[in-house]
Amino acid sequence: MKITVLGLGYVGLLTAVGLANSGYEIIGLDVDIRKIQMLQNENIYIYEPGLDEFVKENAKKGNLTFDTLENVSCIDSEIVFVAVGTPSQSNGSADLSQLNNALEYVVDRASNPLTIVVKSTVPPGTGKKIKEIYLEKASFSHSYVSNPEFLREGQALKDWFYPDRIVIGGDDREATTLISHLYKDINAPIVITDVTTAEMIKYASNAFLATKISFINEIANLCDLTGANIDGVVQGVSHDPRIGGSFLRAGIGYGGSCFPKDVRALDFISTINGHSFELLKAVINVNNRQRFIPIQILKREMGLLSGKKIAVLGLAFKPNTDDIREAPSIEIINLLIGEGASVKAYDPIVDGTEKNCYCQEAVFTKNIWEAIHEAHAIILTTEWDEFVNLDWFEVFKYTQSPHIIIDGRNVLQPRLIKEIGFKCFGIGRNTHRVFQLQA
Ligand code: UDX
Repeated sequence: MKITVLGLGYVGLLTAVGLANSGYEIIGLDVDIRKIQMLQNENIYIYEPGLDEFVKENAKKGNLTFDTLENVSCIDSEIVFVAVGTPSQSNGSADLSQLNNALEYVVDRASNPLTIVVKSTVPPGTGKKIKEIYLEKASFSHSYVSNPEFLREGQALKDWFYPDRIVIGGDDREATTLISHLYKDINAPIVITDVTTAEMIKYASNAFLATKISFINEIANLCDLTGANIDGVVQGVSHDPRIGGSFLRAGIGYGGSCFPKDVRALDFISTINGHSFELLKAVINVNNRQRFIPIQILKREMGLLSGKKIAVLGLAFKPNTDDIREAPSIEIINLLIGEGASVKAYDPIVDGTEKNCYCQEAVFTKNIWEAIHEAHAIILTTEWDEFVNLDWFEVFKYTQSPHIIIDGRNVLQPRLIKEIGFKCFGIGRNTHRVFQLQA
């Protein structure tokens, strides 16, 4: 069966590769000529462990080809997946212009009735509107399916082949059956529902996970004020299967291409529907506030930060990705620079010099040792293995008094780090007081 995948960002490329691997004949389309040229040469532009081998393997088998939107005048596949971006607008709403363009493109070029499957995260109700605007007036009777994606960066292949669930939303039984058959090799529960519910499932999932993170961050903040320890608290509460143990790692907050954008969008959707989603507003505020904690600790420990040498370890919003979208590291670097600190930053994958033009005053080093050389303080912003497994005795020799380490991801062993001579601060690990809660 021939399938078109339109939009070869993170989700689209994974979809194309995953379906090609199941034996379907996939043509991946994107507007970006540079991306297509790279893919045609079997190179990929995102860092995702294992993905390049999958692209090569399937391209060699001949069932994975790529082209630009411009080059294609007719779409003759049975199914079209749409996986274009829906970025945040300044008011928090999702910008659907790429989706609208993609649908117009598909409908214009279809040479037969299609099943159009939207993987992009879109506000509940979008599918209904799309049907009215684009599909009802089309020359063919196309079906519309919502099939949201739950891939995590850094483990996207694993999430594709071993998902927790597959959600398929459609109002046409034939179409939902067709799409569920595509996943027949994957062993996961399939939730079949209507389009709007499927769209809401994606937002509810991301918003719930973000809520867990902000909740545990608030508990961690309280731990710092009361003398409790967040590690013990999490251990204690996670034995309750109703709570579970995942997504309870306190730190400097969530970032990335999904959580911040989707939580804001859900808040916006609530507002325009006349409902004030107070919980979500708090989730967003807590997340924004967490990023100030390292700066508060440094100021308390060292006074003015002007001229102080600070090393920031990690730019990516989490390990095993080169994605810096809404990464806490970027905001922390900018806050430090705003305080007059001299910042050196290092990430094992992200080349800060290329990507972070908005952190121009920071120095991005090629290795960790350059970053920490004579640093008064180190802030660990991404829990890359390279940092967790550092020889901290060696690190100590490179740094200068007061030898501060702020573990923004609670991954180091504070006792060991302190024994070396560092002043070590985590988030909620009974190592500092963050701020007065009543303030
Ligand atoms: C997320 C969802 O997990 C995925 O299902 C969806 O499809 C896309 O959004 P991703 O953005 O790749 O995936 O990252 P994820 O691993 O979920 O982490 C998101 C952020 O939360 C990261 O910044 C991470 O550091 C932070 N996080 C995660 C915490 O601060 N604490 C935790 O306990 C877990």
